[in-house]
Amino acid sequence: MISSQNQTADYFIELEHHYGAHNYHPIPVVLDRASGIFVWDVDGKQYFDFLSAYSAVNQGHCHPKITQALINQAGKLSLTSRAFHNNLLGEYEKYITEYFGYDKVLPMNTGVEGGETAIKLARRWAYDVKKIADNQATVLFVEGNFWGRTMAAISSSNDPSSYTGFGPYMPGFKLIPYNDLNSLEAELKANPNIAAFMFEPIQGEAGVVVPDEGYLSGVRALCTKYNVLMIADEVQTGLCRTGKMLACDHENVKPDILILGKALSGGLLPVSAVLASDEIMLTIKPGEHGSTYGGNPLACAVATAALEVLKEEKLAENAEKMGIIFRARMEDLMKRSSLVSLVRGRGLLNAIVIKPFGDGKTAWDVCLLLKENGLLAKQTHGDIIRFAPPLVINEEQMHEACDIIEKTILGLKA
Ligand SMILES: Cc1ncc(COP(=O)(O)O)c(C=O)c1O
Repeated sequence: MISSQNQTADYFIELEHHYGAHNYHPIPVVLDRASGIFVWDVDGKQYFDFLSAYSAVNQGHCHPKITQALINQAGKLSLTSRAFHNNLLGEYEKYITEYFGYDKVLPMNTGVEGGETAIKLARRWAYDVKKIADNQATVLFVEGNFWGRTMAAISSSNDPSSYTGFGPYMPGFKLIPYNDLNSLEAELKANPNIAAFMFEPIQGEAGVVVPDEGYLSGVRALCTKYNVLMIADEVQTGLCRTGKMLACDHENVKPDILILGKALSGGLLPVSAVLASDEIMLTIKPGEHGSTYGGNPLACAVATAALEVLKEEKLAENAEKMGIIFRARMEDLMKRSSLVSLVRGRGLLNAIVIKPFGDGKTAWDVCLLLKENGLLAKQTHGDIIRFAPPLVINEEQMHEACDIIEKTILGLKA
């Protein structure tokens, strides 16, 4: 029996442990309120949120304009399914396609559904337009990719904790090294049946791995040369996170298929989108793909507001400026602490690499201490801590947060 006395943090954690699947290992903090860049736990303690729900809350928690759009629409019309038309879908489709410069959009809910949709589009395009023989299409991915947890996503993963014990896997996928244009060209040359190359312009979950300058434009040129679709998974890197509207904008390249998610709703509900040209999008006909909730009126209202906020509040520019301050502070810290071995990132998608310290302690232990000191972040791959605050953070707040990270790390013994 779990005692509900006092509704403490321990009580809520124990409830999750008892009744929920054990498919996550959260930092032991129980949040019940958030605003902007801050979250509060059930005891009223305030924290800087330096994860932003994996970059879903770029506009800041409970952004008033996005929240209001949700409330207004929720009382009017929330879901019609796509069996019927609704008065918001077309307006939203016009808005988002013009915003990103594509002919058409296919609305879905989660990021991983966006990835699945992109692959289905690429395969269908390969058969109908590129004229690859039936069932022969290959989609290329890169090592270290992360795009979710469905069977297709884990079939393209080289992370054993993602795929082990879940076979058999989806055929027609191949992995090549990231940030390696020679491998990409060799593969494209050797195999005429490649439909698409799908990748993240900066690898988020892999630990904020930033490719060399010229990689994005090189990928674009090779995909064009070999008539292969360039699919950019900007679910985490897009929507101002890296200091530009899209990470691909850093090299002014336009993917053939663009996948967006997470911050497309500012953290209010799952909204994803796949954008492409008519040539690609119109290969899929009625009844061949969809989702009950995809393109629902609530999502359309929220996503429109979320996209407006990105431009109105100049969040790309702020991410760029605040990122420069953050990395300068972390590089200075790296000089003063032997525990920090690397600082990397772009805009406000950054990470530091932590050397093991003390008695086998890792980045997880650093995150626990950061929590004690009032800042929430999460480790990835054991030794990396990703720092990705909401993009509405200002300079003073950024310095205050960096002071916490600095104090925490300088307080540790190697
Ligand atoms: C780059 C990238 N693509 C796709 C996804 C999957 O998104 P979701 O968890 O909404 O399915 C993620 C999630 O972290 C991601 O980082």
